[in-house]
Amino acid sequence: MTPRIAILGSGKGSNYRSIAEAVSNGSLHAEIRIVLSDVADAGILDLARSFHHRSEAFHPGPFKTRMGIEEEKALAQRLRDEQVDIVVLAGFMRMVKHPLLDAFPHAIVNIHPSLLPAFPGLRAWQQALDAHVVQTGCTVHYVDSGMDTGEIILQSPVPVLPDDTPESLHARIQEAEHAAYPEALRRVIARKFA
Ligand code: GRF
Repeated sequence: MTPRIAILGSGKGSNYRSIAEAVSNGSLHAEIRIVLSDVADAGILDLARSFHHRSEAFHPGPFKTRMGIEEEKALAQRLRDEQVDIVVLAGFMRMVKHPLLDAFPHAIVNIHPSLLPAFPGLRAWQQALDAHVVQTGCTVHYVDSGMDTGEIILQSPVPVLPDDTPESLHARIQEAEHAAYPEALRRVIARKFA
């Protein structure tokens, strides 16, 4: 069988692109079933159209950092209707709560731009610069009810260079992310469908 993936994103979708390319070149055995965004004009939805993946915007509800309960229940049902096996958060800027966590136990993954547990939360690359660390990186992890706290699947280190700006460091971390996410999904799929 071919594992069915749903992608959830709020931004430009460069991680989605790396996953979609891995699926098209055969290095990731999966089907991208649907791409969903809480932001109607997000770049990730344009990108989905260029990959000919089905895509939709959905209403996230009244809150800024999470979905409304009813909206999250509707999203979980939408994903169930699509018989999705794995939910991939790719720059999805809202916390996931119980409606989705309960519908997809141990099957929701996220990528975060630091070596967790260091620097959870927003602008992790800026947090790394502020802390004067010489190394940061990215982490792919299962999602639980905490903020960037779930079980770690894969980490990839990235050096912090003396003349780094927030932009240059973020760009270097994103390059690492684009290799890490497809590899992490290979591991998730191998584990889930062993
Ligand atoms: C990435 O840096 C990821 O670590 C974070 O959000 C960003 C998404 O970027 N969770 P993109 O939309 O995949 O380009």
